Amino acid sequence: MKAGSFIVAAAVTGLANAMTPPGVFPVNTENMTVFFDTSVLATNGVNIPKDNTKIAPTLALDRMLTGRTFAVVMIDPDTPATGVGGNGTNSLIHWFQDGFTSSSSSVTVAGKTVVPLVNVANTTAIQAYLQPQSGPANGQTHRYTQFLIDTTNVTTFNVDPSLKNATKTRSGFDMAKFVTEANVQVLSANWFNVTAT
Ligand SMILES: *[C@@H]1O[C@H](CO)[C@@H](O)[C@H](O)[C@H]1NC(C)=O
Ligand SMILES: *[C@@H]1O[C@H](CO)[C@@H](O)[C@H](O)[C@H]1NC(C)=O
Ligand SMILES: *[C@@H]1O[C@H](CO)[C@@H](O)[C@H](O)[C@H]1NC(C)=O
Ligand SMILES: *[C@@H]1O[C@H](CO)[C@@H](O)[C@H](O)[C@H]1NC(C)=O
Ligand SMILES: *[C@@H]1O[C@H](CO)[C@@H](O)[C@H](O)[C@H]1NC(C)=O
Ligand SMILES: *[C@@H]1O[C@H](CO)[C@@H](O)[C@H](O)[C@H]1NC(C)=O
Repeated sequence: MKAGSFIVAAAVTGLANAMTPPGVFPVNTENMTVFFDTSVLATNGVNIPKDNTKIAPTLALDRMLTGRTFAVVMIDPDTPATGVGGNGTNSLIHWFQDGFTSSSSSVTVAGKTVVPLVNVANTTAIQAYLQPQSGPANGQTHRYTQFLIDTTNVTTFNVDPSLKNATKTRSGFDMAKFVTEANVQVLSANWFNVTAT
């Protein structure tokens, strides 16, 4: 997502503080708003039409956190390996992007002013955004979960070889283990549902 290129949601309701799906590693210290360019607010487990998820959503916080950088990790805990209802220990990475900072300008989403996170330095993704789609059988709904981690003083993610491997292959990723081993702080998390077609 390019800095400044936000399409603001026109008619979204039910804005609430973001959280993780039940059973999936709950952490939430910052309120996070997540939305797609198609003006759909994608928070707290709402169902998002697959066609609206072609490009990565925008993540935003309630406040500007200057001088800090963030990474977004988006996982699908409901992989074929675990089935729907996975606990985040054997997930597929859908997006792993470091280099986010608070935008210098805010945006109004559903009447609430929030501060988008932008990748102004064009930091290369660790894993590029992968649209929710392949894998689930048609009609199956998966919970696509985003974690925002603080990478301000992080120069390298020090994790064991199998976990490092998972960040390269996307599969078999354990978010809680990653947070512990890499010793990073999770600031917020959120999820939305997408049904395979
Ligand atoms: C999160 O939102 C609530 C209101 O919904 C507010 O009271 C709280 O201060 C917010 N937290 C942060 C860190 O902005
Ligand atoms: C997650 O689920 C797996 C089984 O799929 C189980 O072995 C593991 O202990 C669970 N981990 C947590 C942290 O709940
Ligand atoms: C990031 O990419 C955009 C679009 O390609 C470009 O306009 C901008 O100058 C780049 N910024 C940096 C810091 O390289
Ligand atoms: C989201 O998907 C999960 C897993 O399939 C399901 O349990 C939950 O009911 C869905 N939420 C909504 C709002 O449909
Ligand atoms: C980063 O490190 C600096 C210098 O040690 C410290 O002042 C600052 O609080 C740290 N910030 C975060 C978010 O960890
Ligand atoms: C890394 O992943 C590949 C492919 O999934 C697998 O064959 C290999 O055993 C893995 N290595 C480690 C150290 O987990």
